[in-house]
Amino acid sequence: MPAKYFKTSGHLLLCLNNNCRARGADLLHVALTNALENHKLAYYKTGGSLRFTTSGCLGACGYGPILACYRERNGTLEEGWYENVTFPLAMKVARAIHEEGDLPDEQRYGPK
Ligand code: FES
Repeated sequence: MPAKYFKTSGHLLLCLNNNCRARGADLLHVALTNALENHKLAYYKTGGSLRFTTSGCLGACGYGPILACYRERNGTLEEGWYENVTFPLAMKVARAIHEEGDLPDEQRYGPK
């Protein structure tokens, strides 16, 4: 029997390497994990569709915490990269992905 598939609208990755941790990534990780569960945005909760995992260094260590996201949009893979991520910003990104809206522009860097 194959693994159970859960609807996935996008994947959030939060860097938990040393430099991002020194800039508050641990607290953000706990807060975001709890919020995604409480708001039923996590893929394993009813109606949720977000995958959220931690990652190693995402290559922007001086600007952390760094959050990256990937999703399919209009038939292509869209990526979003965020620096100095706060809890409110992370939730905006999460909601945009879940609701299939535009990703927020604030503190976004890289390709758009
Ligand atoms: S330590 Fe987070 S981007 Fe390098």
